[in-house]
Amino acid sequence: MQAIVILISGRGSNMEAIVERCAAEGWPARVAAVIANRADAPGLTFAAARGIATAVVEHRAFATREAFDDALAAAIDAHAPDLVVLAGFMRILGERFVQRHAGRLLNIHPSLLPLFPGLHTHQRALDAGCKLAGATVHFVTPALDHGPIVIQSVVPVLPGDDADALAARVLATEHQIYPRAVRWFVEGALRIEHGVVRQRDGAAQLHAALGGAA
Ligand code: GAR
Repeated sequence: MQAIVILISGRGSNMEAIVERCAAEGWPARVAAVIANRADAPGLTFAAARGIATAVVEHRAFATREAFDDALAAAIDAHAPDLVVLAGFMRILGERFVQRHAGRLLNIHPSLLPLFPGLHTHQRALDAGCKLAGATVHFVTPALDHGPIVIQSVVPVLPGDDADALAARVLATEHQIYPRAVRWFVEGALRIEHGVVRQRDGAAQLHAALGGAA
């Protein structure tokens, strides 16, 4: 049984999707803890109600990024996880932290990486006139929103979309692809070959929700 620790900063809907699918599908894993960098992260309430251990490591309490990263690493290590999942975790993690968890640290980013790393992805996609948007689950490397891609989702950008409408369409697909990626990891079905992630069983690493748009 593998142990998963999930890091959140807010709502935690991706964390919820992972917790639900882990239980419903009987993964060989359990969510051992949910850790937030904000005490008021709403997702903590859901986790606690499910009997999952919760912890808060407030980034504001630390003078440096390294001190925060070290405290966060200690809180994570207390649960001896096989996998650390960043699910809407909005702090940049330092190189030492990332190296320490290399190969067992996943992130989801609401864009088709390598397009639009960083913030305000949906507005930037709209401003660029993109006709497709989506989300990416990737292994974390020290470069921000960068690393071997496990799975991507694509959705259409529709006439009249604003950033909120596009974000909602993308988020619905995040709830599909992130649990899938985590399940593959805990089942040992992922290999990284020359920076490219291969799924052992040849499962589709693309989730297209294009509706009538294409
Ligand atoms: C999600 O859209 C996730 O992709 C994004 O924050 C949202 C969190 O929602 N993450 C990032 O922007 C990380 N760079 P959630 O808290 O409901 O899962």
